[in-house]
Amino acid sequence: MSLLPSGLTGLPAFDIDTLCDALAGPGFAAMRLVDTEMLTALRHEATELWQDEALTPAGIGRAEDHELIARIRRDRTKWLDGSTPAQTAYLAFAETLRRDINARLMLGLFAFEAHYAVYEAGAFYKRHVDSFRGARNRVLSTVLYLNPDWREGDGGHLRIYGPDDSVLTELRPEFGTLAVFLSEEVPHEVTISHRERFSIAGWHRCNDRGLAPALQSRALPIAP
Ligand code: OGA
Ligand code: MN
Repeated sequence: MSLLPSGLTGLPAFDIDTLCDALAGPGFAAMRLVDTEMLTALRHEATELWQDEALTPAGIGRAEDHELIARIRRDRTKWLDGSTPAQTAYLAFAETLRRDINARLMLGLFAFEAHYAVYEAGAFYKRHVDSFRGARNRVLSTVLYLNPDWREGDGGHLRIYGPDDSVLTELRPEFGTLAVFLSEEVPHEVTISHRERFSIAGWHRCNDRGLAPALQSRALPIAP
């Protein structure tokens, strides 16, 4: 069964098998979702939260040094809690993705967490990985973009690095585009955005209840 709808514009059509092949290969995939009702509701909610100043500056690991954090990332975030139909729909989509990927790649994806993120003009997120190798808490990263009519010159690209530090690809954060990649394997960054940039970053985690508490942090570890 094709989980991810085809008929995409601007990006190749993906189905779950193509997605899993890409994850097993370069570790990165991008596709376009076509559930415009859900996407429109998520976009609406994100802009309302932004206007209501309901997002807070994101952190890194346990670091509380605000100057250090500001040198690394400048986005503001709010966790999804499933309290609105738009969020429920997105969490249900993530659950389908989790089951279908587990069935094919046996990644042991167990739980999903996600936050809205807004980058103001001038904001960025320097190169990092989403999980330290071996910690196995965040296994699969997903980023859904919610920005209609994003132009090349608007910046705010997701820049993906290959194993030899080359730039593998750069993705525009266009409305409905979903990036999926292995959290431990794929270094990436968000280049400076010249416009307000809305997205939902989410992570499928493995069941880490057996791990030491020090490895169970919710916050993002950073790469040098
Ligand atoms: C992150 C991240 C990428 C993006 O939140 O960890 O890398 O394109 N986001 O927003
Ligand atoms: Mn990241």
